[in-house]
Amino acid sequence: MANKGYSAPTITVAVLLLFSFFCLHITEAERATKLGREKIKQLHFYFHDIVSGKNVTAVEVASAPTTDSYFTQFGLVRVMDDWLTEGPEATSKMVGRAQGIYVSTCQQNVHLLMASTFVFEGGAYNGSTLAMVGKNAVFDTVREMPIVGSSGLFRLARGYALARTHSIDLKTGNAVVEYNVTVLHY
Ligand SMILES: *[C@@H]1O[C@H](CO)[C@@H](O)[C@H](O)[C@H]1NC(C)=O
Ligand SMILES: *[C@@H]1O[C@H](CO)[C@@H](O)[C@H](O)[C@H]1NC(C)=O
Ligand SMILES: *[C@@H]1O[C@H](CO)[C@@H](O)[C@H](O)[C@H]1NC(C)=O
Repeated sequence: MANKGYSAPTITVAVLLLFSFFCLHITEAERATKLGREKIKQLHFYFHDIVSGKNVTAVEVASAPTTDSYFTQFGLVRVMDDWLTEGPEATSKMVGRAQGIYVSTCQQNVHLLMASTFVFEGGAYNGSTLAMVGKNAVFDTVREMPIVGSSGLFRLARGYALARTHSIDLKTGNAVVEYNVTVLHY
């Protein structure tokens, strides 16, 4: 059948041009997604928040004049360099640190804004990081917080963290929290 509009070579060139345009304009991430290279990673560790006694890992840096009038310590800001370990004991193998701040942001309940970088140490993920930002309703059995960014082997990750208090000493305020983190990355 005769094609009166365009010749076959013209159509071939147009198709090739269109194809190369798309090839040039897809990013590394898009290519990885198309190839199904997105990976899911589950991480499990314990977080040690030590606010008093020996080896303090979280220090108060700011508060409001009214902070102590709230049982929620509304307005309190702490900077942490908390330990992340494989097991719940303080002597368990260290896998990294949670570096960042947490802020008491609710007047009626103990809710913290967590802004933390999980910095992994040793093993394949040495130096790779995950950034977590979200609300931590500390007396809820399980809290979910978003993983909003990452670096290193976790580049382009997104996901969520589930946290459950393993133990808390109400006298000292020291706590051990179990974390399950699920991320998608490339
Ligand atoms: C504090 O850290 C030091 C050095 O890492 C360790 O020897 C000591 O046992 C720790 N103390 C407590 C109470 O965990
Ligand atoms: C982890 O990375 C740090 C800094 O790059 C390096 O000094 C250290 O030796 C590494 N540790 C392991 C176990 O690879
Ligand atoms: C983490 O996952 C383990 C294994 O599935 C489970 O036993 C534990 O309850 C989970 N903890 C949290 C805080 O999600």
